[in-house]
Amino acid sequence: MPNRIVVGLQWGDEGKGKIVDFLSQKADIVARYQGGANAGHTVYVNGEKFVLHLIPSGILHPKKICLIGSGVVLEPEELKREIEMLAARGVKVEGRLKISAGAHIVLPFHRELDLWEEARRGEKIGTTGRGIGPAYSEKYARRGIRAVDLLSPEKLSRKVNDILSCRNHAGQLSKIDPIGLVQQLRSYEKFISPYLVDGSRFLNEAIKKRKSVLFEGAQGSLLDVDFGTYPYATPSHTIAGGALTGTGVGPKAIDEVIGVMKAYTTRVGNGPFPTELTGLEGELLRKTGEEFGATTGRPRRTGWLDLVILKHACRINGTDKLAIMKLDVLDNFPEIEICVAYEYKGKKTDELPLDLCELSECKPVYKTYTGWKSSTRGITRFAKLPPNARKYLATIEKTLGVPISLISTGPEREATIVKR
Ligand code: GDP
Ligand code: IMO
Ligand code: MG
Repeated sequence: MPNRIVVGLQWGDEGKGKIVDFLSQKADIVARYQGGANAGHTVYVNGEKFVLHLIPSGILHPKKICLIGSGVVLEPEELKREIEMLAARGVKVEGRLKISAGAHIVLPFHRELDLWEEARRGEKIGTTGRGIGPAYSEKYARRGIRAVDLLSPEKLSRKVNDILSCRNHAGQLSKIDPIGLVQQLRSYEKFISPYLVDGSRFLNEAIKKRKSVLFEGAQGSLLDVDFGTYPYATPSHTIAGGALTGTGVGPKAIDEVIGVMKAYTTRVGNGPFPTELTGLEGELLRKTGEEFGATTGRPRRTGWLDLVILKHACRINGTDKLAIMKLDVLDNFPEIEICVAYEYKGKKTDELPLDLCELSECKPVYKTYTGWKSSTRGITRFAKLPPNARKYLATIEKTLGVPISLISTGPEREATIVKR
């Protein structure tokens, strides 16, 4: 039984939720390894739409076990809301959800600090406002409160006082009462403790027993804090390597890395986006693809496929197979462009600038494809795709040097072509 990592190859919202749900059918455990409630993963089951922010997308399969790994930052109130939402819709979470003791807690004032940081910046990042940056800052400053700390009143008081003295010293917060905050955090003990495990031990023992683990990435490779368009990035390791550091599993346990990409490109928030379409075509992509953020509802920026960033993304993830999503969104375009290179500082190149932020100075060089002008919606067999759609897919496969495994032709689980 393979252990697979599902990772986004663009700027997030590639359709990871759908693919994780699809591949969960053959997995025993689904583990989220980074990010927090900034993620919004959409899954359709029997015509019902579910949007998950923290709980792995495998939860919608009744028998699967789900783990929130140590690399995730966890907001208890959001977790409560999600568990209640699932329960109200007949999905039982109890006994199937586990939380790594080392997962850091997003504190109530982290959202406020997120907004404060954004207001302070000249050029905003356009964060989701979920307190993700401040929560990871706390973690890496080694002040953070972890899930396991909720079980210890003394540790909690000490840590809360330390964090508040530091944040108040910097004048970043309106006065927060440490006693009230400790009380609020203490109130989570009863709620969180039944879920707590040593996540790394749990996964490694399961793998030893030949259980199959699916690692669910959040965000996308170009938002990775080290390999993305920094500072227009998210503060976690979104790439495949993050699955190892975020769960405590070694590299040899991984059999396959599946890179998820849209048949075009989107981005929410600010930062460079060479193939962005700001006119009518972009509007049409947004409308047809229903490109509005699953977490914040913001309109997503849209553009043509960019094979230069995808080549980089395939490389940094060691991508074995591709899942190409939303092919159906391109059905009505008479012509479709693919960016195969950039013009940068007067030269044509198919590599990225050393500073990814200089992507804003890169002008895309396009190859034009004739569209297929027919519906691919819901097609489940590769042979049934129009020849021009197959040609489009063949270019992606050939240029990236990575075989296509799955093609998605609609949001539903069933609207999926298994190519290999
Ligand atoms: P994630 O964050 O990577 O899980 O992606 P999101 O859920 O934020 O955004 C992907 C959106 O595309 C969701 O609304 C999905 O329901 C939808 N979707 C996924 N695959 C397809 C597809 O093949 N065709 C269409 N039309 N929609 C899709
Ligand atoms: P999923 O898992 C798309 C973007 C934000 C912003 C930047 C930093 O659904 O693909 P943050 O709140 O993380 O500090 O914001 O990252 N961003 C996402 N964009 N999909 C996501 O998640 C995202 N999570 C964060 O818009 O540009
Ligand atoms: Mg999303």
